Amino acid sequence: MFIGIDLGTSSVKTILINSDQKTLASHTEPIELLNPKNGYYEQNPEVWITATFLCFEKIRQQKPKEFEIVDSLAISGQMHGATLIDKNFNVLRNCILWNDTRSMKECIEMTSIYPNIEEESGNLAMPGFTAPKILWIKKNEPEIFKKIYKILLPKDYLRFRLSGDFVTDMSDASGTLWLNVKNRNWSSDLLNLTSISLDNMPKLVEGSECSTYVDKKLAKKIGFKSNVIIAGGAGDQAAGAAGSGVIHFNQSVISLGTSGVYFSPSVNYSSNAKKAVHSFCHCLPNTWHHMSVMLSATNCIDWISNTLGLNINKSFEHIEDYCLNILQENNTPYFLPYLSGERTPHNNSNIRGSFHQINTSTTKSAMLYAVLEGVTFGIKNGYEIIEEINNKTEETYIVGGGSKSEFWANFISSAINKKIIIGEDSNLGPSLGVARLAMMATNNFSKKEVFKKMPIKKETHINEQLSNILDKRYKKWLEIVSTNLQIADKLL
Ligand code: XUL
Repeated sequence: MFIGIDLGTSSVKTILINSDQKTLASHTEPIELLNPKNGYYEQNPEVWITATFLCFEKIRQQKPKEFEIVDSLAISGQMHGATLIDKNFNVLRNCILWNDTRSMKECIEMTSIYPNIEEESGNLAMPGFTAPKILWIKKNEPEIFKKIYKILLPKDYLRFRLSGDFVTDMSDASGTLWLNVKNRNWSSDLLNLTSISLDNMPKLVEGSECSTYVDKKLAKKIGFKSNVIIAGGAGDQAAGAAGSGVIHFNQSVISLGTSGVYFSPSVNYSSNAKKAVHSFCHCLPNTWHHMSVMLSATNCIDWISNTLGLNINKSFEHIEDYCLNILQENNTPYFLPYLSGERTPHNNSNIRGSFHQINTSTTKSAMLYAVLEGVTFGIKNGYEIIEEINNKTEETYIVGGGSKSEFWANFISSAINKKIIIGEDSNLGPSLGVARLAMMATNNFSKKEVFKKMPIKKETHINEQLSNILDKRYKKWLEIVSTNLQIADKLL
């Protein structure tokens, strides 16, 4: 028996699988997200722990016998968050999360002091990443900075609370900006840049390796046997890809969650930092991946639905109706989906969302449509940039909350002019991915038998007529984006 835990931004999701990868039990606990200021996002690490223990309890209630014989577990997590621990192992402040954009200045500073940053890390200094957050703490909360003993990513803090050990995996570590992604080790140059050292870092392991064990006393309390392995685990995007079987260079996956991601594995390391492509380690040895990350995907739909007082299903009815019966190239508004700034390809934390071309006859449906189209164009933008460095993709999957809408999957397919596979299990994503890593860490399974492809539910349909309209609208959308980028800083 194996457990996969996905420590997300809005919930902790846990699944129990057997060696045939059948899901025997699952439970999701919501967690609170704090937004103390415009652009600031934080979480109290204690909520992750409470939610995880509740998940264990619920799963144990569903499958008590199976729960008792769990061999291993692994955690996937929202990436980049800075969880700061003092020498008594107390948390020093709320965790600053991946979507927090307060440290743009620090990114500029880091790059000017150390212009080699892109070569050394493979990535652009972006405020979402962990290192600039620490520089922000150093400047704005010096008393806290002085007390830092360890800096842990969210899922690694959970691992620490389960085991007492400080460990991270290569895929999640890639998002700190302290890893030399090419060599898969911590870079002392990058650590020095933020006045911290190797001693502040957790140990590095591969995602599929055994990282440590659940503490024996705690295991008894939870209801586990005494030697439960904790595998390295993975950042949520690598875990989601692993859960879909996307570990080969000719595959890719679109993830439509709070963030919108286009992810494609590579056999060798390469980078395209200038366009804010993320070049990270995958969660298996000797494998890397590229990804484009847009910060606001499904939450743009949530935002407009809440604003208009509609539930999501109703919103999709409006959007579908508008798209199929009313949409023409002109007289439909445009939307920029940058509610919290943007990473790929702009690395601009000041740009915000906006509607364009509204007139007195603009309807609710038209605005809803524009939001979905704007998010889709953001995905297309990222997809095209990854294609510049890897155009060998033959198989593209779609996962995440947004992928539950077949209409949206078909719409994206028409926008990028590419067939997409909607998987049978697309709602399991990261939790299945790490449950698979937990299986690998027992050394009883081969990579080939574990990382099966997702069973295909459907392949998307490309609507030629829609594709033509979207092509023309995308070109205009790109122009609106570039003019908005010029004034974004002045507006904030
Ligand atoms: C990836 C990223 C998001 C978060 C939250 O770089 O920032 O995927 O991990 O999902």
